[in-house]
Amino acid sequence: MSIIYSPETKQFQLNTNKTSYVMQVQKDRLQHLYWGARLPDKDHAFMRRDHYHSSFNANDEVNDFGFSLDVMRMEYPCYGRGEMRPSAFEMTHPEGSSIADPVYIGHQITAGKEVPKGLPSCYAESEAECETLEILLEDKPSSVVLHLFYCVFEAYNAIVRFVRVENKGQQNVVINKLLSASLDLDVSDLEMISNYGAWARERNIERHKIFHGTQEIFSRRGASSHTHNPFLILCDPSATESVGDVYGMTLVYSGSFEGTVYLDSFEQTRMAIGLQHEGFAWQLAPGEMLDSPEAVLVYSHNGLGGLSDDYHRLFRERLCRGIYRDQRRPVLLNCWEACYFNFDEEKIVSIAKEAAQMGVELIVVDDGWFGKRDQDNCSLGDWTPNPKKLPGGVKGLAEKVRAAGCELGIWFEPEMISPDSDLYRAHPEWVLSIPGRPRSLGRWQMILDLSRKDVQDYLFDSIASVIGEGNISYVKWDFNRNFSEVGSALLSANQQGEVAHRYYLGLYALLERLNRAFPQVLFESCSGGGGRFDAGLLPYMPQAWTSDNTDAIKRLWIQYGSSFVYPLSSMSAHVSICPNHQTGETSPFQTRVLTALTGSFGFELNPFDLNKEEKEEFAAAVSLYKELGDLLCKGRYHRLSDPDKKNYAAWNYQSVDEREIFAVAVCHHSVVNGGPERFRLFGLKKGYVYQSKTDGHIYSAEELTQYGLQLPYPMKERQAAFWHLKAI
Ligand code: GLA
Repeated sequence: MSIIYSPETKQFQLNTNKTSYVMQVQKDRLQHLYWGARLPDKDHAFMRRDHYHSSFNANDEVNDFGFSLDVMRMEYPCYGRGEMRPSAFEMTHPEGSSIADPVYIGHQITAGKEVPKGLPSCYAESEAECETLEILLEDKPSSVVLHLFYCVFEAYNAIVRFVRVENKGQQNVVINKLLSASLDLDVSDLEMISNYGAWARERNIERHKIFHGTQEIFSRRGASSHTHNPFLILCDPSATESVGDVYGMTLVYSGSFEGTVYLDSFEQTRMAIGLQHEGFAWQLAPGEMLDSPEAVLVYSHNGLGGLSDDYHRLFRERLCRGIYRDQRRPVLLNCWEACYFNFDEEKIVSIAKEAAQMGVELIVVDDGWFGKRDQDNCSLGDWTPNPKKLPGGVKGLAEKVRAAGCELGIWFEPEMISPDSDLYRAHPEWVLSIPGRPRSLGRWQMILDLSRKDVQDYLFDSIASVIGEGNISYVKWDFNRNFSEVGSALLSANQQGEVAHRYYLGLYALLERLNRAFPQVLFESCSGGGGRFDAGLLPYMPQAWTSDNTDAIKRLWIQYGSSFVYPLSSMSAHVSICPNHQTGETSPFQTRVLTALTGSFGFELNPFDLNKEEKEEFAAAVSLYKELGDLLCKGRYHRLSDPDKKNYAAWNYQSVDEREIFAVAVCHHSVVNGGPERFRLFGLKKGYVYQSKTDGHIYSAEELTQYGLQLPYPMKERQAAFWHLKAI
């Protein structure tokens, strides 16, 4: 039993193998008491802070003048009564007021996992794997009920939260804010770790001491975005990769979001994540319900490495689905940087022949195969092959690529439409737009209104027909601009505030249909690289193109930042040609290979541009990737050096049976006349003895943990090294 309720104390204790999460109902309100390392099962009421500071605050009707909602550690704070801090929930009533004052009315504990309707979610493979607590809170005057769900994955050390709001009243209400999770820690000496970035430089990690007031990350871009990624971490100032208290919240959603940390005047820290509330207004008629996306909460007592390890395992094993969940992904060669728009069947087939000889298993035809698209200003929406480039259609190309020894993958940007397309000429009303306002273009394109079923059906049919025709085994699903003019022609005026979220419900429904129809197809998400790299897409697409920046050195930061939450198998990483197309820099081939060996490996180059020696390195890299197989796909990953603190990045993978280790170090800038460097491994099993496959050297687990591995000396700028160790 991972969920324990005490009727005497009205306390809920949620236990995982390593953690406990405690709440208590006090004066009908749900109060947060504790989230941290595992506690014995007992009454923890002494953790309450009953010495409230209520001056100036609204008091409760119980006439306890010392009691205030504004200082209580709330589990799901709502706007309108006495709570003055950032809220998790706001609604508007028919008479125009905005107030919600939900009180506890009951709960139930069930085996298994509850899922939010129409949204991506973590799953349990058996009822024993997960237990769900549903707490019911009611705003009595309106009869609006909040169902707070806590799904406890005991073995994964994770709690998955989401909220269902149900209108049990007689009148419409408008939901203006519906966050997935919020909680108040009675700690103030914390640091916040979040990320920021932009196209081609995604997910830079930023860590700072929290201050009184609100610090926020968010997206209002209609996508999780390059700017901030939907995860938030709080930690002890002294937390490192292996020690310290660390609290994480990640949203399983791909659209606009907000993540907030608020330190109040009484040294309590609120942490919350959920749907972006700006522009959000959802009509909830009597009898209707609305579910929030899931938020995944992970606490680690073992520092940031422990937190990442728990996220990686859960996301890899209980969020990703399908045949590729547990399989090494095929080695692919994507033709984008090899050809851009300039290709035809002959060119792709010749690349396939050359690549197949070096072990490549899949050739991906990127943008430009359809309509009349020779540059990025037309044809999105017209998903029929360009006969000038592909005279035999997708079928003809697929047959020839297969004869060359590779499978065929193909690029789509399904959610977009070019003004210069047959689709737009036929269906201008299918675009997200607002009457009387310009339809803004971004990269020459507009966005289809995926909240519409007819649009979803059109896309399903178009994509299904191409997949079927070519027996396609991989789809790269791109999304290359942010939202603007978010309006739908089908929805009424008072429902326009629903469009952005309905769009994502439509997208998820479409992806679900495609996954079911084509279970053998590997889908990869992309959004100008990592502009929609989030947990929401992982159930449908177990990997994402991490960034359009393929420079091995710049990738160190991008992959480092992504690895705080996302498993390596979800990061697609390719070896590209030098000088690099984004930075103009040149890195040794081995450095490019070792940086790209992150789980979903491939190439982004024309093999005819390689010399003999590079071709040999190419083939050797493919063999190494195949040999490492499961280790990269399922192994445990540890960050061993922060590239912002050292002149090199280092990491390792450890096999599930702990007998195999693959460690990599990449020097991103040289230190002239510097000293020798070493880095320590962690997570190794005491008593194990490893032999290096590279040079035969023997190391004990204790040596690797206490002393570590020595970097080559001197290590040149952009040089990389690896150690492949096996227990003997
Ligand atoms: C985006 C992707 C690239 C490529 C281009 C094609 O920018 O991130 O990998 O597919 O679109 O237009």
